[in-house]
Amino acid sequence: MNIVGINQIPGMLSWTHDSSSALVANGKIVAAAEEERFSRLRHHRGYPHQSSAFCLTQGKINLKDVDYIGVPYNPYAFLKHPNLRLESIARNLFNMAACWHYARRMRKEAGARTIFVPHHVAHAASAFYGSGFEKANILTVDGSGETESFAFFVGDSNGIRRVWDIPLSGFFSGGKWRSIGLIYTSVTSLLNLGVNGEGKTMGLASYGKPEYDFSDILNIQSHTNYRIDRRRLLERYGHLQRKESESLTQEHKNLAASLQHALERSIVNLAHEAFQYNGIKNFCLAGGVTLNCNTNSEILKQDFCDALFIQPAANDGGIALGAALEVAARKGEPATDALENAYLGPEFSNEAIEAVLSGAKVKYHKEDTIAQAAARLINEGKIVAWFQGRMEMGPRALGNRSILADPSVLGMDEKINTFVKHRESWRPFAPSVIEEAAPTYFEGVEKASKKSPYMLHTFYVKEEYSSAFPAITHVDGSSRIQTVRRDQNERYYDLLKALEAINGHPMVLNTSFNDKGEPIVCTPQDALRCFFATGMDALAIGDFIVEKSS
Ligand SMILES: [Fe+2]
Repeated sequence: MNIVGINQIPGMLSWTHDSSSALVANGKIVAAAEEERFSRLRHHRGYPHQSSAFCLTQGKINLKDVDYIGVPYNPYAFLKHPNLRLESIARNLFNMAACWHYARRMRKEAGARTIFVPHHVAHAASAFYGSGFEKANILTVDGSGETESFAFFVGDSNGIRRVWDIPLSGFFSGGKWRSIGLIYTSVTSLLNLGVNGEGKTMGLASYGKPEYDFSDILNIQSHTNYRIDRRRLLERYGHLQRKESESLTQEHKNLAASLQHALERSIVNLAHEAFQYNGIKNFCLAGGVTLNCNTNSEILKQDFCDALFIQPAANDGGIALGAALEVAARKGEPATDALENAYLGPEFSNEAIEAVLSGAKVKYHKEDTIAQAAARLINEGKIVAWFQGRMEMGPRALGNRSILADPSVLGMDEKINTFVKHRESWRPFAPSVIEEAAPTYFEGVEKASKKSPYMLHTFYVKEEYSSAFPAITHVDGSSRIQTVRRDQNERYYDLLKALEAINGHPMVLNTSFNDKGEPIVCTPQDALRCFFATGMDALAIGDFIVEKSS
């Protein structure tokens, strides 16, 4: 059975972002990718033409072979939590018509049935069916689904069952005031950290103290006892609005820290409430808010949490996959294999790469052992772009479309921020480290049963290494690590082992292979454009090395 996931369909009023596609065939995840990687438009909105074509090619099928299309949107959701504003009614009716039209067209053109999966169910499925857990509590937290920004599900062999959620607004409210994710977005906007700059707000929080009162802005004790009110935020802290030309003050940092503290407490309380409901100690998280590594790590620290799984595209970039996985489960072919890596995108052969390099009249040479060659360059203090294998799904580069450097070099973080990523000098970087070596360097990794393969947890650098890796140690001593096993990514693992052989540490600074404002590179052409437009020293692409003359 071939099931394609599509986020989003044509004609809908564009309330969603991170368009993406996925293919699940015979209970196996075959392909998944965000449309932005192909269109080169960050957080692409609209129909995912190119990523859906890639998924079919990867599965060696065409549209006529597709049995079901899973769409992560429920056109009837508004009937559960109705909003009686005229604008909301009109939008829902319009989207209902678009869904109906799309389903009819796909039935006619492809012979495929379209199944609409609620947004948060798609988030939940994207996490649960990749977790490898037999039973888990699933929390989904984001800016907005159809009618909620938080939902709690239980997943087991019977599938996924919604237990409760928190509605976004009342009958006549128009502003999604009760959205957990949009409160984070609003603070990001007050701090002028850019559209989709929530990760910057989290990074900034480490520089501040939680001195501001969020008790009636974001304060969740349980799903029935909460204060979530974005209006109060603007009323109370609107005066802290930062102009782009202004530098970040301690007040700004404290505001970010206060928000982060409120979020962590709220999500931990929701997780605890889920545990009290059924005693299950396995947790899955999904939704854009769960890219917040510090909150995830707070959950992991709790006694009521034994194991935690967060899928790599926890944001809306992963709901096409979630919709496909949910449809697969409903149709009797659930994907039960744990998602062991995120490499579900396109790859390019050495022949294809060499054709691009020679076509661009670039000087290059071939290496027999590219991992060792790249490790030598990194050890010399070079900034190395690393383009290998299938592209990662999700917002983090995980060792196939990455920029790498030596984490022990003082000032390397500032250098990359300034000359490669062209962004604020205080932005932190993360390391990749061999899984078995991670407990040597970081506190508490042992508790993460699945370790941290998707860079979605933070751990504190151990005392004895507190000054050894300045380029990946955040101001508060934490680090958002990626653990790597050989079976997850052999070539990247070899690179880390080669570094260990040279300098004693199987660890590298890893940041996404892109410049400010652009999506992570997808093709060799994207890689060359980004490499030559930024201050990187070398590019390891397939078996080839391209170096800039010094
Ligand atoms: Fe979402």
